[in-house]
Amino acid sequence: MKFFLDTAEADKIRKYNDLGMVDGVTTNPTLILKSGRTQREAIEEICKMVKGPVSVEGAATTTDGLVKEAEEFASWAKNVVAKVPMSQDGLRAVQLLSKKGIKTNVTLVFSPAQALLVAKAGATYVSPFIGRLDDVGVEGMDVIAQTKQIYDNYDYETEILVASVRSPLHVVQAATLGADICTMPPDVLDKMYKHPFTDAGMAKFLADWNATLHKK
Ligand code: E4P
Repeated sequence: MKFFLDTAEADKIRKYNDLGMVDGVTTNPTLILKSGRTQREAIEEICKMVKGPVSVEGAATTTDGLVKEAEEFASWAKNVVAKVPMSQDGLRAVQLLSKKGIKTNVTLVFSPAQALLVAKAGATYVSPFIGRLDDVGVEGMDVIAQTKQIYDNYDYETEILVASVRSPLHVVQAATLGADICTMPPDVLDKMYKHPFTDAGMAKFLADWNATLHKK
């Protein structure tokens, strides 16, 4: 499974990139705002650091606007992927961008019906937002399961990028279902390393090691 980091904060990306865990990055206007930098500044730095795809989102809503915006983003770095909203204009833009060789990530997807349209349009990635569905009492992971089944039925090449991830459990569930990618906030990746039994086991082994006579 590929791991993307869902953040525009370069320092956090650097840490996990150095640990060899970052296959790509996703951003959105909220995450750019949080980074305290201009979008271009943040994206150019991230793209230099991370070899994999880096998703960038703008504010256009019309097909023409989305295409122009995506062309600009793609001129910043080779690994930029243009985020496009789930809409009729958005999916038309996906078709045009794919002819121009610009990769796309359709965002704000909340149903398998939308995910099917995204694959038919030929997007590179589809981003179903799991956590936001869970927040309103709907099982977000069901969208991943159904999308995976649909894409497998027809050999669609669009990759399933599980987004709005809130916990290691989401990552495990997505991996169990065979999703291609999980994009997660850095703190979720951090939590994946941890287990109280690991800490307790380590403490006991270290204590016993120190209590043992070691010949030099
Ligand atoms: C994905 O590309 C989005 O940036 C992100 O996963 C949204 O997550 P949120 O629902 O936690 O804002």
